[in-house]
Amino acid sequence: MNTYRLALIGFGNVGQGFAQIVHEQGDTIAQQLGVQMTIVAVSDLLKGSLYNPDGLSPAALLNAVKESGDLSGLAAPHHGWDAQRTIEESHADVLVELSYTDLQTGEPAISHIRQAIEKGQHIITTNKGPIALCYPELAALARKHNVEIGIEGTVMSGTPAVRLGQELLTAANVTRIQGIVNGTTNYILSQMDNGDTYSAALAEAQDRGYAEADPTGDVEGFDAAGKVVILANVLMHASITIHDVDRQGITRLTSQDIKTARNEGKRWKLIASVEKTTSGIQASVQPTCLPVEHPLSSVSGPTNAVTFTTDLLGDVTLIGPGAGRLATGYAIVSDLLAIDRNVKAHS
Ligand code: HSE
Repeated sequence: MNTYRLALIGFGNVGQGFAQIVHEQGDTIAQQLGVQMTIVAVSDLLKGSLYNPDGLSPAALLNAVKESGDLSGLAAPHHGWDAQRTIEESHADVLVELSYTDLQTGEPAISHIRQAIEKGQHIITTNKGPIALCYPELAALARKHNVEIGIEGTVMSGTPAVRLGQELLTAANVTRIQGIVNGTTNYILSQMDNGDTYSAALAEAQDRGYAEADPTGDVEGFDAAGKVVILANVLMHASITIHDVDRQGITRLTSQDIKTARNEGKRWKLIASVEKTTSGIQASVQPTCLPVEHPLSSVSGPTNAVTFTTDLLGDVTLIGPGAGRLATGYAIVSDLLAIDRNVKAHS
């Protein structure tokens, strides 16, 4: 049995989804896969911070947030540590970086990740900021310190798009990746297609934990553009930034546009795409009106889909959850299992 001591920076939807999986499935995962997940620290700017070297009860963490919205009432030997102190003093094996996404600066997550790598901690993050902005630098730093970085949850939540591209399609030469990579906007467009207003659909997406802390990132296409950058740089060895993505969100679409499309047998979708061309990498995020026969037109709600076009296999399509507490929490579990496989392979 390998035991991993995990420090969580951020305890919002994703952290809580992960804690729920540890609570409900942790023993089964330990018995079946030989991986014990022990949350030793949680540090959240709004909900407070706790550290217990013997482990924190995930059920108690979840209950505290549900009852009072913060963690200060829970018993633990140490309270109030900020992210830096948590990384420095919690003796964690893995830093689970879940602070809010900032696609402009990547901070504070980049600093947390650098600090933890230098302390010899493995990294798991669902935060798109640091990965879209400086994955090559962080990956090199991780190699230097002999630790791993898990980023599965940055694209399509727990649906294994990154691992599929990184591990299984790597020799097939991916030339184009195209699909629906933002759950919030896909949910909003589906709800509007069913007659909901834009604002009611957005409020529901926020309620269900699909949207970013600031949903502007979703509806203006920045979140999808960040994911396009990650897919391009991590899976296609490109070196683009969010400024290279020709981006438009869904805010200019009206209920009338959606109704008109429906009457013509079509559906609006926010389509993300990145392609190797003779003039370099072309990347875009654009609302696109698809005929109902198009395979992506029936991908609805928070579900995402990507098609990898490859030289050796042709098209390979993956469809699955793109957002949500448990779906993204699961990405952390799958990254930890991958880290464990590598640790075991090296020992
Ligand atoms: N806000 C994101 C989405 C969350 O709606 O897809 C998952 O990255």
